[in-house]
Amino acid sequence: TGEPGQVPEPPDFEQELRIPEVLNGSDLTIHVRRAPVRVMPHGPRTRMWTYGGTFPGPTIKRPTGTTTRVTFVNDLPRRAGSLTVHQHGGHQTSADDGQPTRQLIVRGDSRTYTYRLVEGGKPMPASFRFYHDHRMGRTAPNNWRGLQGMFLVTDEREERLGLPSGRFDVPLHISERSFTPHNQLTDPFPGARMHEWMTGPQAPPNDATVGRRVLVNGQFAPYLKVRPGRYRLRLLDASLFSAYDLALSSGRPFVQVGTGSGLLPHKVVRQDILLGPAQRADVVVDFTGQAGENVLLSSIPRSDATVGTGTRSAAIMQFRVRGRPPTRDARVPDALRPVPHLDVPSTVSKTWTFDLTKSGHGSYWSINDKMFDPGRVDHRVRLGSIERWRLRNTSDVTHYVHLHEEQWRTISRDGRPPPPWERGFEDTWRLDPGETVEVAARFTDYRGVFMVHCHMLDHEDHGMMAQFEVY
Ligand code: C2O
Ligand code: CU
Repeated sequence: TGEPGQVPEPPDFEQELRIPEVLNGSDLTIHVRRAPVRVMPHGPRTRMWTYGGTFPGPTIKRPTGTTTRVTFVNDLPRRAGSLTVHQHGGHQTSADDGQPTRQLIVRGDSRTYTYRLVEGGKPMPASFRFYHDHRMGRTAPNNWRGLQGMFLVTDEREERLGLPSGRFDVPLHISERSFTPHNQLTDPFPGARMHEWMTGPQAPPNDATVGRRVLVNGQFAPYLKVRPGRYRLRLLDASLFSAYDLALSSGRPFVQVGTGSGLLPHKVVRQDILLGPAQRADVVVDFTGQAGENVLLSSIPRSDATVGTGTRSAAIMQFRVRGRPPTRDARVPDALRPVPHLDVPSTVSKTWTFDLTKSGHGSYWSINDKMFDPGRVDHRVRLGSIERWRLRNTSDVTHYVHLHEEQWRTISRDGRPPPPWERGFEDTWRLDPGETVEVAARFTDYRGVFMVHCHMLDHEDHGMMAQFEVY
């Protein structure tokens, strides 16, 4: 459904980039409701489902180690059904994890999620997370309609590094949508309804929801005025399906300082950054000496793509470098934050294989040949233990595999050490066809059931999801 829309030449950049409102209280209430959003520069606003009236929703920004309670009130129309909100990248109880079939928020009702931002008694490292709907069989349509927002965890140790901050720290939520001539969202989900999921395999392998327009912070082709200095950009691929290989038209590199799950041990200079659904990169970009220039952020066709799913080709947004250099220029130290030692077992305790399983009447996206069943636990782990897991893609398309709950680290990619930008914490990995990634984590604090799934939301809705239980 949907075709990969090509954006052959840069559009006019007519809208100034919006920065979502920041909420920083310890008790927050967010109404989930319909609202018109200015997405396209001209014509009607787009009616969307929103967290708090905007798309993306407000950015929740909280100091680490502080308990944060967020109450979501379901004020959507009746046909929306019940909701569930997952904080992606978080570490929380199973009941606060916003899982697909549990603790749902029915219409007119609310639910309070508690995020302690603590792991093993210690404040968690600063990180760039996001929150989004996770409803069984409807995650793709609910996210398409607008149920997404960003979540930043800050800490003092990170602040002392002197990275760009304040208005020099800009979150960029990148997504894509298709619109009718009246700027309303199309409905590309004929086969993604709950009852269809329940009655059997429907859409694979052609379920790839792409949008014709790439949006940043919910706007098509925005521009941002920047000063000739350093900026920290928090890049999030919030698309349902597409991957972007991000690059700057000036030819200048990104200096990557973190993943979505926290700072890297050392900064990494990268000419382009490949991000798939739910992946984040925390980067510093330097506009020094470029006053008067316009710099494009684009997604380029992936140069090393020999296998797997390619990237969108699109001009995404424009930076207009104007004015004087900032008075206090930021620093980017080489050493950022060491990753603590973990006694990683030498043997793998669980292998998760991602594939397209062919059955009598069709095919479905599966993990270990099984379609998701909320009543089944696929692996059990003792609380406090450290496990090494193998993630394997035996299908012939790329998957972006996400593990809930723990602070995962990448041990190897196809038996080799991971690239320098995968040496921090991670929660979502690109797996090209035939690829194997090994990851490890300590299971800390909470017993209960948590999810393993592909974050291409169509794949997730069509069964590519499993559960582990910490006991
Ligand atoms: Cu971002 Cu289980 O999801
Ligand atoms: Cu997938």
